[in-house]
Amino acid sequence: MAINYSERIPNNVGLESDRRLQRALEAWQPEFLKWWGEMGPEGFQACEVYLRTAISVDAKGWANFGYVKMPDYRWGIFLAESVPDSQIKFGAHKGEPVWREVPGEHRGVLRRLIVTQGDTEPASVEQQRHLGRTCPSLYDLRNLFQVNVEEGRHLWAMVYLLHAYFGRDGREEAAELLRRRSGSADNPRILGAFNERTPDWLSYLMFAHFTDRDGKYQLASLAESGFDPLAQTCRFMLTEEAHHLFVGESGIGRVIARTCELMKRHDTDRVGEYGGIDLAVIQRYLNFHYSVSLDLFGSELSTNAANYFSAGLKGRFREADLHDDHQLSQSRRAILKPRGGAITQSEEPALAALNETLRDAYIADCERAMARWNKVIQDAGVDFALALPHRGFNRAIGHYSGICITPAGEIVSRDEWQNRRFEWLPSQADRQFVASLMRPVTEPGKFAGWIAPPPRGINHQPLEFEYVTGIPNV
Ligand SMILES: [Fe+2]
Ligand SMILES: [Fe+2]
Repeated sequence: MAINYSERIPNNVGLESDRRLQRALEAWQPEFLKWWGEMGPEGFQACEVYLRTAISVDAKGWANFGYVKMPDYRWGIFLAESVPDSQIKFGAHKGEPVWREVPGEHRGVLRRLIVTQGDTEPASVEQQRHLGRTCPSLYDLRNLFQVNVEEGRHLWAMVYLLHAYFGRDGREEAAELLRRRSGSADNPRILGAFNERTPDWLSYLMFAHFTDRDGKYQLASLAESGFDPLAQTCRFMLTEEAHHLFVGESGIGRVIARTCELMKRHDTDRVGEYGGIDLAVIQRYLNFHYSVSLDLFGSELSTNAANYFSAGLKGRFREADLHDDHQLSQSRRAILKPRGGAITQSEEPALAALNETLRDAYIADCERAMARWNKVIQDAGVDFALALPHRGFNRAIGHYSGICITPAGEIVSRDEWQNRRFEWLPSQADRQFVASLMRPVTEPGKFAGWIAPPPRGINHQPLEFEYVTGIPNV
C-alpha cells in the first residue's frame, strides 16, 4: 500500500479515480492551510523542521525523515490495509461481513463519532500553538511540531471519511471542524479537555501523556468498528499516536529525573531555587491532567455507549482478545458509585457500563507508566512515590461530578475541598513558578535546567543534531 505523493493530496486510497471526491477535498485543502497558518505553531512556520512523513502504511516502510517547512508538510489520507473477508467482531451484527459503506440506520451516530474524534485533532494544535517560543531544547521543539503536524493529519483522516461517506452533511461538518476554536466563548471545541489552556511545557507533556492516551483508547475502540473505512483509518492513526505518548511519558520521566538529580545534589525536596520542579508540583499537575482526561471517557453508565457497541460501531479495547460472547446482552459488571457519603459497588449491565470498561483499560495503562516513573525516582535514591488520584477525584462528568473526593478516595465536605484543593491541584503560585522556568533553549544539544536530556536522539541522530533550523530571534 504505497502512498502516492505525486498527487496534490498524498493518499493510498486511489483518490485520483474518484474525481468528485478529489475535487471536494482539493477545495477543503486551502481552507485547512489557512487554518494552519492562523492556528498552527506561532512564529515557526518558516523554519525547517526534521520531521517524519509516512511513505507507506506497512510496518517496514512507515516513515521517512527530512527537513520540511511545516506549511509544506505532505498532509494526506492514509488507511491501514483492509483485511479481506473481515467480519464484524461484536454486537448484534457479529459475524456479518464488515460494512464498506455507511449503514443507513447508523448514519447520524457514526457521523457524530467521527466529528467528535476529528474535533480533538485541530483543538490540540490550537492549544499548543504558543509553546514553541519557550521550548526546552531543539529536540523537544521538533517533537512538539511532529505531534502538531500529525494531529493535522488526523484531522485529514476524519475529514476524508466525512467527505467520502457522508455527502453534503459530511462536507458541512468538515468545514465546521476548521471553524471551532479551542477555548472560544462562542464556538468552542466539542470536549472540555480540549478547551483547557496548555500554558507551559509541563502542562503540554502531561497533556501528551494523559489526554493523548485517551485518544489512543478512543481510536483503538473505533479501530474495531464494523464500518471498515473507519477501522482502517484509526488503525493507521494509532501508529502515529504511539509517538505522541512517547513524547508525554518520556518527557515527564525526564522532568522527574532532573528533579531527583537536584534533590540529591542539594539534599532537599524543594528544588525550585535550583531551577527544578518539585515532585509535589509534578503530582498536582498530574492530578489535574489525569482527572480531566478521565472525564473524556464519559458517564459510567451510558445508553449511547451501549448503542454504539450493539450497533457494531465502536468496540472495546482489543475486542478480539476478550473472552466472552462479544455481545454482552446478559453480562453484568461491578461499578463504583458514590452513595450517601461512601463509595460503594453495584452490579450494572455490562453494555451500559462500556465507558467505564474503556476507562479501566486506560487507568491500567496509566498505572504502568506511573510504575516506570516511580522507578526513575527509586533509581535516583529518592524516597518518594507519585500516585494516580482516585478515579472520582476532580471529576466533572458522570456520577462523581459535584462530589468532593480527595486523591486518596475519601469523600469530604465542600468546605474541606475548597480549603485543601491546592494541596491537590496546581495553584496559581505553582503555575506562575512553572511559567517562570519557561525560557527558550535553542542551542543544539542544550537543554533547559528543569528537564534532563533524553537518552538518545530522534532517528539515530545525536542530541546535538539541529532538529529545527532557521529559528527567528525571540
Ligand atoms: Fe490525534
Ligand atoms: Fe495525538
